[in-house]
Amino acid sequence: MDYHIQVVTKDDKLRILQFLRRFFFRDEPLNQCIGLIPEGEDSTCLELEEYCSMSTIANNLNIMAVSTSGAIVGVVLNDKLEPTSDEEPEYITTCENPKFKKILRLLYYVDKNMNRDEKYQGLNVLDVRIISVDSNWRGKGVGKALVEKALTIGREKGFHIARTVCSSFFSGKLCLRLGFERVYELNYADYRDEDGKPVFTPALPHTAIIAYIKEL
Ligand SMILES: CC(C)(COP(=O)(O)OP(=O)(O)OC[C@H]1O[C@@H](n2cnc3c(N)ncnc32)[C@H](O)[C@@H]1OP(=O)(O)O)[C@@H](O)C(=O)NCCC(=O)NCCS
Repeated sequence: MDYHIQVVTKDDKLRILQFLRRFFFRDEPLNQCIGLIPEGEDSTCLELEEYCSMSTIANNLNIMAVSTSGAIVGVVLNDKLEPTSDEEPEYITTCENPKFKKILRLLYYVDKNMNRDEKYQGLNVLDVRIISVDSNWRGKGVGKALVEKALTIGREKGFHIARTVCSSFFSGKLCLRLGFERVYELNYADYRDEDGKPVFTPALPHTAIIAYIKEL
């Protein structure tokens, strides 16, 4: 199984979206456990589509792995991290999809908590936002190679640190292998709703959402 890694261009936008719809939208642990995507081959989540397109193509920070036959087999979307606001951002309060809103709220909660001491203030932070590999290509180092390339590009572009929030045990493993440091961890069992019930109960081995950083 051979592939190469390249920077995503605006011509790849639709292909990337189709790839993410097929894999990430359905199999990322939070999306999966909450049933974000309704049954049906063509179903999607428009709010998640919008969230993915927030990572602007023009920043030249997004990369993909392409097989020798020309198929996309993995994608990593990155962006410059903006400071976390004290109030819940408007795109969360106004999100009309209740399931996706829960995910956005969790991500915001993690953001706020990992950043409590404002240690990264004034630093240029590369946010590794979306990591997705074709299910037939997993466990072969594609994800690791993509994140490694993202770090190289981030370094070249003058980012000081990279950070990523891993909802998946496997992306966490990959980050540790690449020398990321764990800075915040929240067990899914401890993140509860008003009735005291865990909001997310992903399948094992995904037991926690973990934030990692790495100096570049
Ligand atoms: C997370 C993901 C991108 C990892 O991609 P990948 O190409 O399989 O990653 P790698 O091959 O580089 O593997 C990373 C580590 O996880 C392990 N791993 C990956 N898939 C595995 C599996 N199904 N079972 C056991 N171990 C697995 C690898 O062995 C490797 O660990 P190692 O370094 O100790 O050998 C992929 O599983 C995926 O797309 N998952 C669905 C979307 C998702 O959860 N994205 C991340 C959200 S934060």
